[in-house]
Formats: sequence, C-alpha cells, structure tokens
Amino acid sequence: MPTSIDLIRETFDRALAEAKDESAFEALRVRYLGRKGEITALLKGLGSLPPEERRAFGQAANALRSHAQEAFEAARECLATAGPVATGPDLTLPGRAPWAAGLHPLRQVEILMVDIFRGLGFDVATGPEIELDHYNFRALNFPDDHPARDMHDTFYMEDGVLLRTHTSPVQIRSMEGREPPVRVCTPGRVYRSETVDASHAAVFHQLEGLYVDRDVTMGDLKGTLAAFARSLFGSRARVRFRPDFFPFTEPSVEFAFSCLICGGGGCAVCKKSGWLEIGGAGMVDPRVFEFVGYDPERYTGYAFGLGIERIAMLLYNIPDLRYFYENDLRMLEQLW
Ligand code: FA5
Repeated sequence: MPTSIDLIRETFDRALAEAKDESAFEALRVRYLGRKGEITALLKGLGSLPPEERRAFGQAANALRSHAQEAFEAARECLATAGPVATGPDLTLPGRAPWAAGLHPLRQVEILMVDIFRGLGFDVATGPEIELDHYNFRALNFPDDHPARDMHDTFYMEDGVLLRTHTSPVQIRSMEGREPPVRVCTPGRVYRSETVDASHAAVFHQLEGLYVDRDVTMGDLKGTLAAFARSLFGSRARVRFRPDFFPFTEPSVEFAFSCLICGGGGCAVCKKSGWLEIGGAGMVDPRVFEFVGYDPERYTGYAFGLGIERIAMLLYNIPDLRYFYENDLRMLEQLW
C-alpha cells in the first residue's frame, strides 16, 4: 500500500515536471513547503502519531522535504541555464515525417509527355538554349522583318546569338546531316520577352515533335495529337484544329484540347471557351527542307510545338502558371 508520503511525493514530482517557469515553481513551493504546505503539515502532524510510529514517519517526511528542496534547486538551475525545464519528450505530439524532395511538377509532366511520345515511336532530341539566329529564325524561314525577330520579343545576347524563343530550332538540328525517316520529340526551356500573366511566362517550356518520311500527311499529325491527348487525359479528351500561320509550316494550325477542368462548359482556366490553346503545328514547309538538303518532292513531314505549362495546368487543375515558379513548398509538395 502506498503511504500518504509516497502519494505526496508522486504528485509533487509530476507537478514539478510540468512546471515551466519561476511562478509555477513558487506556487508549488508554497503548496508543499509553505507554512501550510502539504509536507510541512506532515511534519507538524508528527506529534499526534503513536510514539512507536513517529521515528520512521519522521525520517520519511524529512527525506521527502529534502527531496522537494533539492528538486526545486535543480529545476531552478535548469531554468536559469537552459530556459524552460526539460520535461522529456512529449509523447502525445504527432511525429515529424522525414522531409523528402521530389521532382518539380513541370519536370514530372515533361517526363510523362516524353514517355507517351516514345510509345508512339519518337526518339528524344535536345538542343542548346543559347541558340544561333540561323537555327531559331533563318533556317525556319522567318523573313528578316518578321515581328518575332523584334528586340521586344527576343532576348538577344550578341549579334546572331539569342536565347531560343521556341524548341523549333531543334527540328533543323535533328534533320541536318541525316536522312529521313526522322521522328523526334524535343522538350526544353525557351525564353521570350513577354509580359507575364496567368498563362504567359518569360521563361517556359515547350515540347516539339517532328516526323519526316515519305507520305506523311496532315491525318498522321491529327491522329498523333489525338492519341497524345487521350493518353494524357483519357478517352473523353478532344482536340480542335484551327488555321494559323507559322513561317516553317504550310498549312499551319493551332490546336486546343477540350478543357477537362470544366468538361468543356467554360471556366476561368479556359476563359469560358471550353478549349485551352496548347500549341501550334503543321506540315513542314518545303523551304525548310531546302535549308537542310531534303528533297521536298520525295519527303513530307509534320511538326508541332506545345506548351508544357499549359498541359501541367490542365493536369493539375492550376489556374495560374506563376504558381509553378513561386517555389512555395505548400503547393509543390501536393504535386510530388
Ligand atoms: C511556337 O512556339 C511554334 N514554334 C510552335 C510550332 C512548332 C508550330 C512546330 C508549328 C510547328 P507558339 O508561339 O504559338 O508557337 O507557342 C506554342 C505554345 O507554347 C503555345 O500554344 C502555348 O501553349 C505555349 N506558349 C507560348 N507562349 C507562352 C508563354 N509566354 N508562356 C507559356 N506558354 C507559352
């Protein structure tokens, strides 16, 4: 059976372990060692005990008083040197998961897209981000006075050298010095002097596709992009093609995917249109074949270029591409 002394010692120890500051210590000291304190009362009550019990009880009560005084001193010293009294780990707190890094969502989407195109028979090709005007513009049939060459649209480094404005120069690099068939996809970072908004960045990512062989048709292009959309977004995904202009493709189209966020009904991401512009495409212009020495009578080809951020926005239901660049771990961790 625990005695009253054992019980007092136990409650004292527990209360002291929970005390965090000087005022809590003082309240405890008054409660146990003050004039009317519990330990003081034990000692004062000695006289009322039968004589044969007094000696043992008195020794135990004195030992408790010494224990309490020493424990106070130790706790105060601890507070003075190390701040709050160390009370041992709080086992009721939830554990902390070890922090693990992950691939950036844009990189994950790029890997996913490249995997799909590999499955459709495309090799992967890359090219430099610091590019020659020749590959970025001239060999792609951009006339000298094309607006894209304007200083306001392109970051020029020095005469004839610039930060590539699209992944299309890799088309030329992939065809040069190699005979068809050529079937490559080229993911990469591109740069434009853009006003940044919810769907435009100055540094962003594109994925280019190029297929050149005998008898490649616009039907192959449409089938490839439709297969890509369905692999990414499921069988409900639809692709819309509309006439457009690019100097290096003829005919040219812009293509859009049905907005899967609103199911085509219209929302903020698709600007209430039900469609999200994803990229540009077309049949490789014979002038481009001449630049790389291909016979346009013998070969035809299609090319397309699409924005990786736009795909990531659709996949993750993100209304503003700037979220991808703010590096807010609360957002990024949800997508790892
Ligand atoms: C081009 O860049 C052409 N090189 C695409 C092409 C390739 C056409 C091959 C024909 C043949 P455009 O400027 O439209 O085209 O950009 C293609 C896609 O990149 C856009 O549809 C969009 O998804 C994305 N994009 C363009 N500008 C930005 C930007 N500032 N921020 C984020 N994404 C962008």
